Amino acid sequence: MWVLRDLLGVTGPEYGCGVNVRKACTSHLNGKAVNPCAIPVGGLKATDEVTTIEGLPATVGADLHPMQQAWLDQDVARCGSCQPGQIMTAVAVVRRAAAEGREITDADLDGIRNICRCGTCFRIRGALKAGAAMM
Ligand code: FES
Ligand code: FES
Repeated sequence: MWVLRDLLGVTGPEYGCGVNVRKACTSHLNGKAVNPCAIPVGGLKATDEVTTIEGLPATVGADLHPMQQAWLDQDVARCGSCQPGQIMTAVAVVRRAAAEGREITDADLDGIRNICRCGTCFRIRGALKAGAAMM
């Protein structure tokens, strides 16, 4: 987390709790959702690929990833603090379902543990489904 934010200036992964609970820092490590606040940099290999919200559009070669567009279309964010992590989790959930050859289910959405203190959870679910349809 601190290598990303303080040394590299990549501030999309939000510092929330610092103890792998709120998940505002969610990013991708080799395409899977992880929480950088709980990963010692010494535990990474040189070949590992870290993607933060800043790099998400590049994964689809566009200015915005479809999930980000869905978030805008559904006007999800309130204070915004949790939203980068919510979007990164959403993309990972859809990718995981696709890798298993299926659509996302309500059980997938129920399994998301990212916390939003502004209560945007209902809109997040709608945006996630809309984003999944565009991925
Ligand atoms: S800062 Fe809370 S989970 Fe990473
Ligand atoms: S939008 Fe404020 S914490 Fe989620």
